[in-house]
Amino acid sequence: MYKARIIATGGYLPERILTNHDLEKMMDTSDEWIQKRTGIKERHIAADNQVTSDLACEASKQALKRAGITADKLDMIIVGTCTPDMTLPAVALHLQRKLGAGKAGCAAVDMNAACSGFLYSMATANAYIKSGMAKNILVVGVETLSRIVNWDDRSTAVIFGDGAGAAILTQDSGKRGIIASELHADGDYAYLMIAPGNGTFHAPTGNYTKIHMEGHDTFKIAVRHLENVSRSVLEKAGVKPEEIDVVVPHQANVRIIGSVAKRLDIPMEKCILTIDHHGNTAGASIPLALNEAVENGRITDGDMILFNAFGASITWGSMLVRW
Ligand code: ACO
Repeated sequence: MYKARIIATGGYLPERILTNHDLEKMMDTSDEWIQKRTGIKERHIAADNQVTSDLACEASKQALKRAGITADKLDMIIVGTCTPDMTLPAVALHLQRKLGAGKAGCAAVDMNAACSGFLYSMATANAYIKSGMAKNILVVGVETLSRIVNWDDRSTAVIFGDGAGAAILTQDSGKRGIIASELHADGDYAYLMIAPGNGTFHAPTGNYTKIHMEGHDTFKIAVRHLENVSRSVLEKAGVKPEEIDVVVPHQANVRIIGSVAKRLDIPMEKCILTIDHHGNTAGASIPLALNEAVENGRITDGDMILFNAFGASITWGSMLVRW
């Protein structure tokens, strides 16, 4: 019985840092409000000449190097993003070309599940690997949210950041790897967070229509779904909350992470927190947090890791991994 195991991770954050104090000069907000309500101190913003696939490429190169494989050996590239370079082609194809693996011709596709994009991509990769359809898959979570943020709307502008995280998944028949996962979506809640531009809803204008979010309602629904889906995945795998060594949650709001941990009876010290210096990087937040935790030695061989994510509008999921 095969499963997918993460053999290497990589991460990339753009050079430019935008602090809460910088935002104070741009809009009617304060460092105190942002830290208290979200846990965010600063976020990274892509340079004008960087697009999503550039960020993805940096994180992927690092992951491939650490895995000791070249891009032409990949069977598939899956990119979780809601901020693609363009409508066509998908970020995964730009990434394949930038990694120099275009001629090798592996499958390449994007998954748009907003903040749950990385978990959706990981679960899909696991299914391909389990079925024997692929052996090595590059999974990326990446966003350039700064391009679709409405900088005149303080309720969303202070939250988001840019970045990319990558993981190399390989076929394994041992105990390590993805043990269980669960994905959900409910399109009835589309109004909670919407960026309706650049599709067929509006005639293409060349401009993205910016993000609008009903933050307060989203918060309450996020906590409920994150608790339930995490419990469900734990039950499915027969794992008790006290057996979890590390939680790698989506970094939307430190209060959401805290509420979910409390409801699951998992100490906050077990949660990886990067929101203070990354902000909410949507699909990139989990792989960036994972990469940082691996680099800092917070995750070691044999650890039981619980992932959970909630995103627009609305998607959610959870995954259990034996590292
Ligand atoms: N600075 C100062 N004041 C602000 C700011 C700001 N940046 N933003 C809002 N406020 C004010 C509001 O105007 C309001 O003032 P009022 O009481 O005078 O009307 C007050 O603060 C409270 O506003 P709320 O929206 O109720 O604030 P809340 O505590 O809910 O925090 C937040 C807002 C941070 C957005 C929170 O609701 C949240 O984190 N929601 C969940 C986000 C999420 O999980 N999204 C899904 C994933 S993202 C994705 O998929 C891409």
